[in-house]
This record gives sequence, structure tokens and C-alpha cells, in this order.
Amino acid sequence: MAVMKEENGKYYPLEDFVEQAYVGSRAEYEEMWKQSVNDPETFWGDIASELYWHKKWLKVNREDFFKGEIEWFIGGKTNLAYNCLDAQIKKGRGDKVAILFQGEPDEDVVKLTYKEMLKLVSKFANVLKKKGVRKGDRVAIYLPMIWQLPVAMLACARIGAIHTIVFGGFSAEALRDRILDAGAKILITANGYWRSGKNVSSKANADIACDLCAKEGHTVDKVVVVKRLNNFDVPMKAGRDTWFEDEIAASDISDVCPVQWMDAEDPLFILYTSGSTGKPKGVLHTTGGYMVYSYSSFKYIFDYKDKDIFFCTADIGWVTGHTYIVYGPMINGATSIVFESVPTFPNPDRFWQIVEKFKVSIFYTAPTAIRALMKEGEKWPQGRDLSSLRLLGSVGEPINPEAWMWYHKYIGSEKCPIVDTWWQTETGGILITPLPGAWPTIPSYATLPFFGVDARALQPRSSANEPAVDAPVNEQGELCIARSWPGMMRGVFGEPERFFNTYFVQQPGFYFSGDGAIRNEDGYFRLMGRIDDVVNVSGHRMGTAEVEAALNSYNTAVAESAVVGFPHEVKGEDLYAYIILKSGVEPSDVLKKELVGHVRKEIGPIASPGKIQFVSGLPKTRSGKIMRRILRKVAAGAIDELGDTTTLADPSIVDEIVKGRQ
Ligand code: WTA
Repeated sequence: MAVMKEENGKYYPLEDFVEQAYVGSRAEYEEMWKQSVNDPETFWGDIASELYWHKKWLKVNREDFFKGEIEWFIGGKTNLAYNCLDAQIKKGRGDKVAILFQGEPDEDVVKLTYKEMLKLVSKFANVLKKKGVRKGDRVAIYLPMIWQLPVAMLACARIGAIHTIVFGGFSAEALRDRILDAGAKILITANGYWRSGKNVSSKANADIACDLCAKEGHTVDKVVVVKRLNNFDVPMKAGRDTWFEDEIAASDISDVCPVQWMDAEDPLFILYTSGSTGKPKGVLHTTGGYMVYSYSSFKYIFDYKDKDIFFCTADIGWVTGHTYIVYGPMINGATSIVFESVPTFPNPDRFWQIVEKFKVSIFYTAPTAIRALMKEGEKWPQGRDLSSLRLLGSVGEPINPEAWMWYHKYIGSEKCPIVDTWWQTETGGILITPLPGAWPTIPSYATLPFFGVDARALQPRSSANEPAVDAPVNEQGELCIARSWPGMMRGVFGEPERFFNTYFVQQPGFYFSGDGAIRNEDGYFRLMGRIDDVVNVSGHRMGTAEVEAALNSYNTAVAESAVVGFPHEVKGEDLYAYIILKSGVEPSDVLKKELVGHVRKEIGPIASPGKIQFVSGLPKTRSGKIMRRILRKVAAGAIDELGDTTTLADPSIVDEIVKGRQ
């Protein structure tokens, strides 16, 4: 059997793959890329024309990065749910499976065709309308990975309601914050779900969140509850809570629901993500541009063909699931797997068992999962038939060469290209990635920008008057994008200044990503991690300021805290918290446990600090700014790289911190 050729550290796609790929060479890509940035009117106009528009746009795009203003498909009217459902049925895919649900119990499989999905979505859209939801209203969704989640999303999109999905691993408090910020009056949740053999309740958190909202003067009027688990009772509040199953079965609920035609720039969803302040940002995506970008990026990057079975292991509560489990696959008429459980239960071959069972051809996961499974040994993938795979993907954090090689060898059998895809909640879809048939990849390089993406690694600038300068080859710069692409976010919900200040000030005239990157001689990008106060723990994006705010709110004990990231073998990064206790409070392991418990309650288990160190002070400049660089170095154990500490208000604190390192 042929294997991919390796030369000078570059891995070349097999001839068979190249022949069938949409883009078969770098030259072909270059030509398309040039047109995409020089003539977006034609390039994106042509791609958008492959989709259904109720009214065609007047102009493809208009933007001003000095103001943070972006518009795509101006004047056009369409509907994303229509394109994902009705349009697919018109193309003859009505009886094809759209959503393939695999529950944690192996026998728990639900296959929903495009026709069945359309009926379910229409019914649930009618339920939402019956409950008073109108175009522009926000609907909060706090659901596990079950098929009802895409149904709820598409139902919102069909009637023009804005969904805001909250990852199931967030706590009641985190859910409250998001419901309040979005002003959602309706919440969709489940009684519970399966997690590693146990039943976990979603409704319990939902109830607490609703009570907490009430304390802030906000009422959640309606809660719709999916009965995911049988024999799992949850309290139902009369007048507020109803069962999803009863709602869609009601005699007055039709399985036909007219489409709300949306302006291309009408909001589609809000998704909260962490930034460098204590409060998550409501990243706002709109209809037309996101639709075109999710369509084209899915098609070209995963080289998607009609017969493929696509399995993305992300949670729909994160942007990866929005774009590459639901919208991207469905607008391409694909079969997309929704998997409820975890990679290691009942055994660390669950992913591979699913690949074997459904003959998955494209598999997309996160480096943290690969590293975790790698530790379990290759006997697990070797015990399964993975011959259906033809393409692999990685997302969420830089993939280290060891994990890349393992993925390549044991999962891809040295024949599947790997697309290492760099993107963000803000970008809506993948921006930097290999096109799998077009050029060789290098482990840990995301390689080249997708169509329409003018990516640059810029040197830092101290003032707007300085010109933007690219970092020299192989030297780290700030990853920025010079012009808008269709899938780009359009704002921070309710905070227009924050949108501008976060993304357009650091490098005036550019979108600033918050990541560091280098470019090699081939122009390939290598991502170097965040350069702001955001940490990627197991691919989950976490703002250190948010974790600090949670720790500080334990105000019977904590006077001040500083949280930084440090390298972790499996998680990629983990959180390290330095804590100054209030006077009279004794440091202890019990207190550490309490603090971890408190953070879990305030944000969720994903934010638990892996290490806590009690300190008497923090390294601060004379103006009182915490020198995080020093804290990061200590946390990473890079004691000899602390640099100059003489400018600190109290340099002796560094010795104490180094001695007490956890
Ligand atoms: C990181 C996830 C290196 C990066 C889609 C980015 C990556 C943040 C990669 C966004 C990759 C994502 N290589 N780093 N292939 N993909 N990142 O918003 O730091 O949850 O800024 O979106 O993840 O995380 P988010």
C-alpha cells in the first residue's frame, strides 16, 4: 500500500488524493487566492451563487477596518436553515442522512434524513413561534451533544431568532451571565445526558441559572426540556417548563413552517468566548457571509464529496461544532455525526470504534484528544478497521509534532493528509489551513491562508503612525488579517466599542487575532500560541482574567490573584493560580480544594486551576502592573529565563515565588 512521501520534513499527499481533490496544486490555489482578495466581487459572488438567495445581493462587500465596519452580500436576502434543509431536498438529498446521532450507549443511534430534519426543525420552529419567539429574539440553548441540538439551532435560524448556545460544561453561574447578557427569555435544555457511564443533569443547572437571573430582575419565561434520559426525574416548573417531546407532538404544531427571509447582515447567532477581561464577549455572527464561508471552507478544506461520512468530535457548544458539525456539513448536504460521549469511555478506542462502525471518511478532532489517546497506546486504533478514513483534521491549539506523527501513522495509516486548521470563534470558519491535495504539509504548521484571507505576521507597533511591517522570515509576529472575509464576526453583542478596541486597535487597519505566528521560507504559517491573556486548556479557550475574577469572588479568603497558563503534556496548557490570602487566613490544602470548587461553581470544571500557589505578594511594576511574564516563566519552570527583575516594586518577591513553586 502506498504511503505519503516525506522529504525534508514535508509530507506530500498521495497521487490518488491529488487527482480527485478540488484544488490539486499550489499554483492553482495561488491563482484562486489572488482572485479571492483582488476581486472578491467575482470570487465570492460565484461561490455565493451556488446557494439559494431569496433576493440577490447588490454588492458583495464593503468594509472599513479603521472603523471596524464590515458588510457582506449587501442587500441580499436568504435563510441559512433553508439552505441546509429545503435546498438540499430540492437537490435530491431528501433521503440522505443529515444528522447521525451516536449516544454514549452504543445502541443509542438516531439517523435523521434531510426530510426528517426539515419536519423536526419546522415543528420546533412552530413551537418557538407559539411561545412568542420572533425574529431578532435571543434563544439560549444549554443542551448536551444530542440530535435535538441541531434541530433547535436550525429552528431558530428558520424563523430569524438568534441562538446563543452555552457549552454544557459551563456552570449555572456562567449560564446566568450569558442569558443575562443576551437578554434571552427562553431556554432550551435537557433533563440530562450520559457521561462516562453516569447520568448528568443539565436541568439542575438550568433551574439554578433561571433563579439567579430572577435575582437580577430578568425572567426566563419558558424552558423547553428534552427528555434525553428515561427514568431521570427533574422538577418541572408549572407554566414555565415543558417537554420538547410533548411540544412537537402537540396537535396544533404543523410540520411545515414558512421561512423568515433574512437580510444578509441580520444576526444569526451569538457565541460567548473568553477575552482578556473578566467578562466573556458575545461574538456576533450574521447570516449571509457566515453561510457562504461555512459552505466554502467545509467544501474545500475537507475536500468534501457527496459520499463522505464526516465526524467532528468537537462540542456544538463551541464554534467548531457550530460551523463544522452543523452548518458547514449541512449546507453541503453531508452526513455529520453528533457524538454524545467522550473518547475514553468505555475504552480509549471509542472514536475508532465509531469510525469503524459508520465508515467515517473524514475525521476532525483536537490535539488534546490525540495526546490523551496516544498515551493509551496504538493497540487501540490497531484493533479497529480505520480503512474508510481518507482525510484527518486538527483544531483548537497548536499540534505538536509527536502528536501529529502519531495521528498520521496510527490513525491515517500514513495515507491521509492532515489539515491543521487555525481559526477562532471570531473568524466563523477556518482561516489558515492546508488544502489537502494542493501542497505538502509540515507537522505543526497550519500552512497557508484560505481564500479571501490576507494573513500577515506583523511586528509589534507602538503607535498608529508607524507603518505595519511584516516580521522577518521565521521570526514571530502578531497574526493579523488585512481585510475582511465573509465569515468574520460583525460585533460584540451590546458592546460596539469593545469590538473595535479588542480587534482593530493593536494593529490599526488590521484585524488582530491575539495569536503569535511565524512564517517560513515557503510562506507557511506556524502558530505559536496566544500573546494575550487567554489560555487554551484542552482546546477550551479560557480568559485568565475570568478565572481571577472567580477566585477573587471567594472574598472570605482571597485578597488578590493572578492566573497564567503553563505547558501541560496532555491539555496543551493548564492554569496556574497565584493567590494572596487575606490577613489571618491560613493557607492549606483544604483551602485549595475549596478554591477549585468555587471556580468550578462560578465558571465550570473546564476553568479549574491545575496548580495553586499561595504567595505573600505578586511581582508588580512600580506603577502596580503585575508582571505576568515572570509568573508565566515560574509556572513553566523556566527559572533561568526570568530576565530583568530589578524594575519591580519589590524584587524579593520573585525569590519567594520561585521557592514556593508548585
Ligand atoms: C487556538 C477554536 C494553533 C488559537 C476554533 C486561537 C489554534 C484560539 C489552532 C481560538 C491551530 C485554534 N493551531 N492554535 N490549528 N486552532 N487555535 O475561539 O490560539 O475556541 O486564537 O476557536 O485557539 O479558540 P476558539
